[in-house]
Amino acid sequence: MEFAERHDLLNKTFTPRSPVNQRQLFSGRIDQLAKVQRAVESPGTHAVLYGERGVGKTSLANVAEQIAPIWNSETIALKVTCNSNDTYSTIWRRAFSKITFSEKSQSVGFLSETSINTRSFAETLPQELTSDDVENALQRLKKHARLFIIFDEFDRVFQASSTLTLPFSDTIKSLSDNNYDITVLVVGVADFIGDLIAQHESIERAIVQIPMPRMSSVEIGQIIDTGAARLEMAIENPARQQIVKLSQGLPYITHLIALHSFQEAITNNDANVNKGHVSIGIQTALDEWQASIKTDYVKATTSVQKKNIFREVLLACALAEVDEIGYFAAADVRSPLREVTGQSYDIPNFARHLKEFSSENRGKIIERTGQAKRLRYRFNNPLMRTYVIIRGVAEGMIPLEKIR
Ligand SMILES: Nc1ncnc2c1ncn2[C@@H]1O[C@H](COP(=O)(O)OP(=O)(O)OP(=O)(O)O)[C@@H](O)[C@H]1O
Ligand SMILES: [Mg+2]
Repeated sequence: MEFAERHDLLNKTFTPRSPVNQRQLFSGRIDQLAKVQRAVESPGTHAVLYGERGVGKTSLANVAEQIAPIWNSETIALKVTCNSNDTYSTIWRRAFSKITFSEKSQSVGFLSETSINTRSFAETLPQELTSDDVENALQRLKKHARLFIIFDEFDRVFQASSTLTLPFSDTIKSLSDNNYDITVLVVGVADFIGDLIAQHESIERAIVQIPMPRMSSVEIGQIIDTGAARLEMAIENPARQQIVKLSQGLPYITHLIALHSFQEAITNNDANVNKGHVSIGIQTALDEWQASIKTDYVKATTSVQKKNIFREVLLACALAEVDEIGYFAAADVRSPLREVTGQSYDIPNFARHLKEFSSENRGKIIERTGQAKRLRYRFNNPLMRTYVIIRGVAEGMIPLEKIR
């Protein structure tokens, strides 16, 4: 492959900033796709797909939208991406505007001709949609097709508009009570689910909850291999392992590091990616990381005292074992801090650091909850946690082998 061609293809292969929208580039997630398929195939069943930022929700939604008509040829699948200006009415209007139909029209006059016009279904509906309008519209549509409607980034509307919850769960309830052949899939970060379900206890039965966990090492490895094959390149095993490990199950990180590592190899006219390319790739990835994360890191770790341990404690926090929802306790920081510094620190030696990380002064990089003695901590932004670890490895503060 020519240099220019490979270079061009690289930016379409590793795309940290955009979700996957081609099945060939989509790796793993068999289990989650099967659950979506089951929901689509059972009338009256709807689903919520939820998981942390950057874990691959939109990519899965894109692929599900593409393959739903293969699961069942009568299915019309459509996806609406919500934003914080949306309301109940606007998200449904956008869904209906994606359904088009053809209409014959006869022009009047002597030489009357028939022409075929394409119209969007939304044009046949009132401007401001109530839940009755939506239900009527869906009732009309269900005669013609099985519908699979995906609302992505649902958490955004949800946070912005408290008036969305009730009519939306009314609609879900009514669709499932009437056993319509319509499946709604709601996608987003988890916050909204409790509220959505709380509106009607009985809708809990009609909604399948599909958590999106981080990806396994095998799935992450596949992303790298698929990309390498597409670029007609190879990657040495230690280099591949390095990317897998640093990704920590987040495909976003895989794409980011792979992009820059493969770029480095291509620039050096090398079709074989090695550890040296990956080291440079990591450095570039760190440099290109969202500016806000980099500034927050500096704010959290800078001190006028030369022999301070803010960087080390922050890294130990990022390495600490967490519970299901990402929280750790001060005691969990002790052992990684020993690994990072080679010295034993007890909780009182770093309690002040933990407290400061959750203060305005250090940018509230970590949030703190619970009562004294039972305090729990969590990174405010999960990507910050990943950034801290990758930076720690790049700066030689912790060997890669120590990353779980
Ligand atoms: N199954 C997959 N195979 C290969 N790459 C993936 C897969 N899932 C996600 N990615 C990649 O990971 C990155 C994040 O994916 P995506 O945008 O789908 O995540 P998300 O959970 O929707 O993120 P957000 O919470 O920010 O909306 C993208 O670069 C995407 O290309
Ligand atoms: Mg998304």
